[in-house]
Amino acid sequence: MRLIVRDVFTAEECAELRARARRLRFVDGRATAGWHARLVKANEQAAADDGAAAALLAEVRARLSAHPLFVAATRPKTFASLLLSRYRPGMGYGRHVDDALMGGVRTDVSFTLFLSEPDSYEGGALVVEDAEGESEIRLPAGFLYLYPASTLHRVEPVRAGERLAVVGWVRSYVRDPAVRALLFDLERARRLVFEREGKGETFDLLSRALADLLRRFAED
Ligand code: NI
Repeated sequence: MRLIVRDVFTAEECAELRARARRLRFVDGRATAGWHARLVKANEQAAADDGAAAALLAEVRARLSAHPLFVAATRPKTFASLLLSRYRPGMGYGRHVDDALMGGVRTDVSFTLFLSEPDSYEGGALVVEDAEGESEIRLPAGFLYLYPASTLHRVEPVRAGERLAVVGWVRSYVRDPAVRALLFDLERARRLVFEREGKGETFDLLSRALADLLRRFAED
């Protein structure tokens, strides 16, 4: 399942995050790429040993962990990694697939949280591939795009301006993307029923089905 999560941060919060990012030390992004991805990766990322960068990423992690739509879509057990990435003119990230393990943690869902407004840079689209072709993703600041970590994808070269984003990987309680999608639909259906008729019999039965499916498929 691929999904846009809107308004994870407001435009004002993103402006503040960008201001903080300007004070961070950035290093060559190839430091954290696998040997094959390194061949096509040309970007920068905030240095992992920078305490201010770690604080910023911890805020992002906390916001996502408390976001009902993100949680319903990813069922996060933990975050395998979070990075603050920066692309300046001429930088891009060619077609690749993300590592299956990061620091010994399985990656199930990849995401990009856009921090730059789309009219502040040229190029820099996230392009994801599937059997039907390619989709170009270029979202407002504060919006997040998530997709299965097995997806082939790339970031088009930035031609002007600066593209700042937090990229990350979730280790999900539910390994199978099809099961995650099913649980997500059930969760949405349950909430719609609740809005319409409250906590009645239909809601309770849907809740039990959801809980039992999660018990059956979750790896805790
Ligand atoms: Ni990637």
